[in-house]
Amino acid sequence: MLPFTRPTLDSEEFEAIKEVLQSGWLATGPKVAAFETALADYIGGDVQLRVFNSGTSALEAVLLAYGIGPGDEVIVPAMSFVASANVIVRCGATPKFVDVDLISRNIDAAAVAAAITPNTKAVIPVHFAGRAVEMDAIYQLAEQHNFLVLEDAAQAIGTRYKGRKIGSSGNPVCFSFHPNKNMTTIEGGAVAVNDPVLLKKIEGIRFHGIERDSQGSMDVTAWGGKMNMPDVGAALGLIQLKKLDSFNQKRRTLVERYLQQLPQHDALVLPANADGHSWHMFCILLNWEKIGLNRNQFLEVLKQQHAIAAGIHYPPIHLFALYRQYGYKAGDFPNAEKIGDQTLTLPLFPAMEEKDVDQVCLAVVSLLDGLNLMP
Ligand SMILES: Cc1ncc(COP(=O)(O)O)c(C=O)c1O
Repeated sequence: MLPFTRPTLDSEEFEAIKEVLQSGWLATGPKVAAFETALADYIGGDVQLRVFNSGTSALEAVLLAYGIGPGDEVIVPAMSFVASANVIVRCGATPKFVDVDLISRNIDAAAVAAAITPNTKAVIPVHFAGRAVEMDAIYQLAEQHNFLVLEDAAQAIGTRYKGRKIGSSGNPVCFSFHPNKNMTTIEGGAVAVNDPVLLKKIEGIRFHGIERDSQGSMDVTAWGGKMNMPDVGAALGLIQLKKLDSFNQKRRTLVERYLQQLPQHDALVLPANADGHSWHMFCILLNWEKIGLNRNQFLEVLKQQHAIAAGIHYPPIHLFALYRQYGYKAGDFPNAEKIGDQTLTLPLFPAMEEKDVDQVCLAVVSLLDGLNLMP
């Protein structure tokens, strides 16, 4: 079975983890410090990195550090993984959804501008599937209206925007290292930032609010949680980071082949290539009415007849029961809803071979041609 994603790990990663296990120091320690330095070198642009036990924790820590809470509104795309919105609810603030572009799946400044109210305290642009959001105009809006921009780059480690790595701007940017991401620490995340005040706050929020003076005495002046990354994960991350650019290059090569091999068909919409894209996922849109199969049937045929597992990324967030309670309903965000109905994530991971892409393309083409339908 060809999965839609799989982490690429070999003996180097296994050895690195074994070394940490044998060292007797498993929780946050020297590997975390080394990983934070290596990440900062990789991202560039004079930023510091702080790693967390998940991308979700990293996002939460930044919102909490800025004091975002009840009465505040945070603008967020209706099409993303639900964590992008859950972190807003976690802080007691109100998510303000906006629609995305059908092809890039990203928000733009016009959508953000239309959602600004006097209560807007932040916007969370999501670099969907590794494609950079057009950030400049969003930062201009944030400056005019004095709100925070927190980039959700969970899916975009290694992505470039206007030639510079996402995360290098100095504004807070969060990454995820969950196993399906372009590099992994098992579970894990990071914040890139260059403001020393924010840095100190997120360090406190990450670990029980503990501060130490030069003698090592401990004090706690503000609440902190438990969001630190263990050394086992950081040791894995150090190896994965060295390979990240080659992983991303392989993803781009595989995507080029997908884009060459998949046909122009009026039931099929392909994602567009873009400068600096790190291709975390390759998500197509299929018009089920035209095809004459529903998505579950299509997934079943792919699995049973072609040994291919595809994914669905994502149902639109505003239609989950939690978010309907804020008054959102079907019809509010047509593009996010269309993506939610029509999307399919085709297999894409660095260990895939070009023949695997060809196999997926043949399966999709045969289904589009109405062949091999389920009995
Ligand atoms: C867009 C987005 N934001 C946030 C997250 C949360 O990251 P994590 O799973 O590391 O908590 C994810 C993870 O899938 C994501 O895709």
